[in-house]
Amino acid sequence: MAMRLIIYTGKGGVGKTSSAAATAYRLSDLGYRTVLMSTDSAHSLGDSLEMKLGPEIVNVKENLDVLEIDIIHEMRTKWSEIQNYVSAFMLSQGMGEISAEEMAIMPGMEMIAALFYVNQFNEEGTYDVIVMDTAPTGETLRLLSFPDVTNWYINRAFLVIKRILSIARATVGKVMDMPLPSKEVMDSVEEIKDNMDRVKIILEDPEVTTVRLVLNPEKMVITETMRAYTYLCLFNKNVEALVVNRILPEEAGEGGFFSEKLKEQEENMELIHNAFDPMIIKQCPMMRTELRGEAKLRYMAQQIYGDEDPAIVYAKSSPMKFVTEDGVHKLKMKMPFVNSKEVELFRLDPSTLMVHVGSQKRNLQLPDVLSGAEISGAEFKDEELVISFKRS
Ligand SMILES: Nc1ncnc2c1ncn2[C@@H]1O[C@H](COP(=O)(O)OP(=O)(O)O)[C@@H](O)[C@H]1O
Ligand SMILES: [Mg+2]
Repeated sequence: MAMRLIIYTGKGGVGKTSSAAATAYRLSDLGYRTVLMSTDSAHSLGDSLEMKLGPEIVNVKENLDVLEIDIIHEMRTKWSEIQNYVSAFMLSQGMGEISAEEMAIMPGMEMIAALFYVNQFNEEGTYDVIVMDTAPTGETLRLLSFPDVTNWYINRAFLVIKRILSIARATVGKVMDMPLPSKEVMDSVEEIKDNMDRVKIILEDPEVTTVRLVLNPEKMVITETMRAYTYLCLFNKNVEALVVNRILPEEAGEGGFFSEKLKEQEENMELIHNAFDPMIIKQCPMMRTELRGEAKLRYMAQQIYGDEDPAIVYAKSSPMKFVTEDGVHKLKMKMPFVNSKEVELFRLDPSTLMVHVGSQKRNLQLPDVLSGAEISGAEFKDEELVISFKRS
């Protein structure tokens, strides 16, 4: 079996960590070699599992490992070449040396680390399933869009560095007060790029990586979840299921105190169905006590999945596809809950199209046949953005 990656995401506090931990328990009980990995810097897997976790992988039980990524630890133990170069560069600019700790707060470092682990686990074949517990939506969207963005920058940075290197070779003496990157540094940068290319393939394979959106039956949460779904489609992620968590049971209304709330909840459940049907919608009731520890996590898994195997892929389609219709090349992107005024397209360079929707943008690498091809039109059809290219 190929590896599976199941990502839980959603607004803060809705139950992502609990759902991820519950799923991981169930999977390991079923015999899948499972790793539960948190990319949220405000880690709470330790609380959820009621155990002490560290920056290294911890074995929790048979078939279940847990990893809370600690970026400072990662920085101290990995990529020393890059760090050395950045430090030397900063020093040459009179900025003083940079420590692993300072480097760790540079934007994106956590994400590179998380994505590297996904690659590593995939290549080593250590696990059957990775369950990813993530930070609230905005941060996670950054994580998932990261391979596109970094590769665009790295490609350009590479051109610049190569040019500097060729000038330096042709000139005797020092060209500028900047240490030139060593072969090791260039190799590390190349390695980051390769890693990002490979992880992108994993993340965009709809049968390998799937996203499950966790939400509560509350108006504001639903609105944010709809938005998250739109953006996940933009980043070509297979969102296959919803987990509606903290549903008040009927009997909560009987005493009167929650009766209004229950009515509201009913309306909100309808709202969820109207927006998301026919997507798979799982449910989990609000429990009487905090949801912590093995027994409750197993109970939660039973509520969400019943007797199903959570490693199933519920729906297998990619939101984005390139097609040729009547000799015209088209890019079709599923884009739910969007109106055409919210979408902007920019050509960054012949082979990169930037698609801007609401607060998110994506640098889309066009296939070779479309490199340089002019866009002849873009239209919305059944919640799908269809971009047509001129024949070359
Ligand atoms: N169905 C539920 N019933 C009762 N408490 C819950 C439920 N789901 C989550 N919780 C509790 O709510 C808090 C937030 O849940 P958590 O899974 O950490 O959310 P997130 O990771 O989305 O921030 C935790 O204290 C957790 O125990
Ligand atoms: Mg959490």
